[in-house]
Amino acid sequence: MIKIENLSYKYKFTDYILENINLEINQGEIVVIVGRNGSGKSTLAKLISGILIPKRGNVFIDDIDTKSKKTKLELRKKVGILFQNPENQIIFPIVKDDLEFALKNLKLDNKENRIKRALEMTDMSDFYEKETYGLSLGQKQRINIAGLLAVNNKYIVMDEPTTMIDTLGKEKIHNIILNLKEKGYTFIIVTNNPDEILLGDRIIILKEKNIKKIINKSELLDNIELFNDCEIRLPDSIKILLKLKEKGTNIQKIKDFSKDNLLNEIVEVMMDGRK
Ligand SMILES: Nc1ncnc2c1ncn2[C@@H]1O[C@H](COP(=O)(O)OP(=O)(O)OP(=O)(O)O)[C@@H](O)[C@H]1O
Ligand SMILES: [Mg+2]
Repeated sequence: MIKIENLSYKYKFTDYILENINLEINQGEIVVIVGRNGSGKSTLAKLISGILIPKRGNVFIDDIDTKSKKTKLELRKKVGILFQNPENQIIFPIVKDDLEFALKNLKLDNKENRIKRALEMTDMSDFYEKETYGLSLGQKQRINIAGLLAVNNKYIVMDEPTTMIDTLGKEKIHNIILNLKEKGYTFIIVTNNPDEILLGDRIIILKEKNIKKIINKSELLDNIELFNDCEIRLPDSIKILLKLKEKGTNIQKIKDFSKDNLLNEIVEVMMDGRK
């Protein structure tokens, strides 16, 4: 479990960017963080992954306090972060060497097994000995995800992981995330992509240095004004649902708002309406 307690953060020459944040994230959960530009999403992502250290309050990953210098190495084995530009995180020219680098740093055994398993989980097995140079951005991002899985990071923070990736590549990564969730991995995904909102079990809206609201995915429709207020764009499927509701279609029976199911559910209520 991730526990954030009374967390506040400021950069050297700024006012407080985040103030008094409290949040718990369970293992196996996908949490999506949204908010307008500059609302502190990336700052929060870095605080959760231990790259930044709270000015006030604490972040605990399981029982590890990200402030503690003694447990830095243990922390790195639990939580990893992925950034927007996949190229910035790849260092070596050959895939397996790139994945091995972190394992060496963390003095982890069974390197080859770990790498092969991680590449399998990201559908990149064929690239074990391939050059990183020629890969697409989507494939590079999958190598980066594999890098975290090889270390066995159970908590994976992603800061706009698919912004630079084409539609098919985005979908591939979404599916990998959903499969890993089933295996018990935990995701904290910062996003500007409306479709990625539907990946989350819970959606966290940041505004004015704090969490404005935490919404369960099934409560999305009850919070449309809030999303508009906070300048957060909604997925097309949610927009369609709203239109249907406006036109008097009964959408009450839609309970499953998962990305892949929502379209099917929408078609069903439309068909019901025609009978
Ligand atoms: N290294 C830094 N030094 C000083 N100020 C910073 C630094 N990084 C971010 N900030 C400031 O902190 C605030 C929050 O930035 P942050 O990058 O966390 O927001 P964000 O929600 O991720 O924005 P975006 O949607 O543009 O990615 C902004 O006002 C930004 O200018
Ligand atoms: Mg950001």
